[in-house]
Amino acid sequence: MTDHVHIEQFKEISDLIERKSAHRPKIGMILGSGLGLLADEIDDADYVKYSQIPHWPESTVEGHSGQLVIGNLEGQSVVVMQGRAHYYEGYSMAQIGLPVRVMKLLGVETLFVTNAAGGVNPEFEPGDLMLITDHINLIGMGGLSPLRGQNIDSMGPRFPDMMNAYNDVLRDIAVQTSIEMDIGLRQGIYVSLAGPNFETPADLRFLQVIGADAVGMSTVPEVIVARHSGIRVLGVSGISNKANLDGNTPTSHEEVIEAGRVIVPKLVTMIRGVLRNIG
Ligand code: HPA
Repeated sequence: MTDHVHIEQFKEISDLIERKSAHRPKIGMILGSGLGLLADEIDDADYVKYSQIPHWPESTVEGHSGQLVIGNLEGQSVVVMQGRAHYYEGYSMAQIGLPVRVMKLLGVETLFVTNAAGGVNPEFEPGDLMLITDHINLIGMGGLSPLRGQNIDSMGPRFPDMMNAYNDVLRDIAVQTSIEMDIGLRQGIYVSLAGPNFETPADLRFLQVIGADAVGMSTVPEVIVARHSGIRVLGVSGISNKANLDGNTPTSHEEVIEAGRVIVPKLVTMIRGVLRNIG
């Protein structure tokens, strides 16, 4: 048993989704805080509300609608999570990883994961896009893993490797796309904290010292589950605020949502371009 989830649940859910949609997506997407509007771009869409899916972790946070959108984008079949669950909402890490396990059973081979993040790198400005080159799994180092419990050998190995967690080929394509489409693209390291509180100035100075460029409360558990089962990952953070290193500027969820409005159009252009370029 993997904490609260097991493979029969993933099968039950993937069967249900396959009954509700004729699309057979090879690409999955997870849309972070304030970034859900990207799902409006999906053509020929089928919708499955999270509340209709057994065992599914529902999002309780403003800025996250709770549904799967399954359809086409740039001629590719995609399954999009419009809203995600976070550890701070009370779910176990295993529950947060469940949607990615289901995507694997649906046939997903590539996952685009997005989030809103605070810019720790002083050069980053709200509204910037940051290609995630790697992550620092502070929550994992603290003892929390979505893979804790008996390994599901049919999905992946007990001790999955985390080199190239953010796939180098996909990163090259993203950089190429950003040049073609003239979208500024930062690159950097994402560090995940549990939240829901934002960081103290001392937290942020620590994160800067350990090499973080952006900080957020999501993404890493989903990426670990994806890599466990051999799904390749492209990760992009939307920088929603500057980290409060000087201790003078409070951070709010409202500014995170507001920044999403600037970030979504760029992210849409970026993701469309990457989809065209991966062919
Ligand atoms: N810190 C943590 N998570 C976040 C932030 C932040 O500044 N902005 C958006 N998500």
